[in-house]
Amino acid sequence: MKRIENYDLSSHNTFRMKVRCALYIEYETVEELQKLPWKELPQPIMHIGAGSNLLFTGDFPGTVLHSAVKFMKFVDMGLDDVLMTVGSGVVFDDFVARTCEAGLWGAENLSLIPGEVGASAVQNIGAYGAEVKDIISGVVCLDTTDWSKTVFKTPELAYGYRDSMFKHNKGRYIVTSVLFRLTRKYSPRLDYGGIRNALESQYPGITTAAAASAVSNGAHVLTPRMVRDAIIGIRRAKLPDPAEKGSAGSFFKNPVISREHFENIVKAEAGRAAAGVPALEVPHFDLPDGTVKVPAAWMIDRCGFRGAEKGGAKVYEKQPLVIVNESGNALPGDIISLEQDIISKVRETFGVELHPEVEHV
Ligand code: EPU
Repeated sequence: MKRIENYDLSSHNTFRMKVRCALYIEYETVEELQKLPWKELPQPIMHIGAGSNLLFTGDFPGTVLHSAVKFMKFVDMGLDDVLMTVGSGVVFDDFVARTCEAGLWGAENLSLIPGEVGASAVQNIGAYGAEVKDIISGVVCLDTTDWSKTVFKTPELAYGYRDSMFKHNKGRYIVTSVLFRLTRKYSPRLDYGGIRNALESQYPGITTAAAASAVSNGAHVLTPRMVRDAIIGIRRAKLPDPAEKGSAGSFFKNPVISREHFENIVKAEAGRAAAGVPALEVPHFDLPDGTVKVPAAWMIDRCGFRGAEKGGAKVYEKQPLVIVNESGNALPGDIISLEQDIISKVRETFGVELHPEVEHV
């Protein structure tokens, strides 16, 4: 177990904010965590993962806990379905890589998402038409009210878009491991954005029905590994490399608005054209309940923020949903001030309230 006082957290948050906490504890086993003298530790206590979805707004006066529980085990190798139990401190993408190497479907669309397994189950991370809840079968936690081990089945976790029961019971449960269900059954999900195109341009014909039926005859054509590689290519082209530039991925959630509100935005765009500004088609995705999702990145861009800077912080040129620590020395205040500018301008222009996806501490 690591236990360090007055600890510099800059390597524990991907925004690379130079902040400190009174005490940092990294445990390797659940028993170590259970034995901690909770009441004697500097308060408050917070648990972090890789810090890939966090913005520290200043020094943290209490204790930061981090899991180094790092096992990965296959627990049931059924005919189709395969169950895996994975420690909360495992790097999420190491888990995804392992499933793809084993030829298992289910996690491949979540390739290269930063973060660790424990936090993935809290945040319900998602990308390219998949969310981690789709492959979670159960989550093992410690309940900090009585230190009992509690196992939640997925329906009990009230998963939604980047949301779960854990977020509504802050600090109560600590995820110690996650049970995933993967499958050998051919089940690629290629309908999101550019996945199919990326695969087709590399392997013509591979995503067709004929190629899929060849699989049922025993010939493996498209593999989870190939989908993983395509997703990695798409992400690298659009998102900053965390090793090069600090960021926390998408800074805002994508807003969902009423159809009427959406139509008004479309009309306003047409009005702009009349004023001589080129009208843009408003990108959108219709949801089953009649509401409409409009990408926050488009609104941010339309408000002129692509590449905008505030102190050391910058709106990422290739993807305006991301704020980066451009100078490497950005202060929390630089990021917050850029965030506030974006929220106000988007509200004023589109009447839409953006909400950060990144948790502020
Ligand atoms: N969309 C669809 N179908 C598509 C394409 C997009 O429904 O074929 C929807 C998506 O649900 C999304 C919106 O349209 O809400 C915009 O999609 P886009 O691909 O432009 O992605 P994004 O808004 O830039 C989101 C996630 C990313 C994730 C990508 C790819 C959020 C806040 N961000 O970004 O997650 O990698 O989709 O799936 O939802 C992160 O959370 O840090 C992150 C990088």
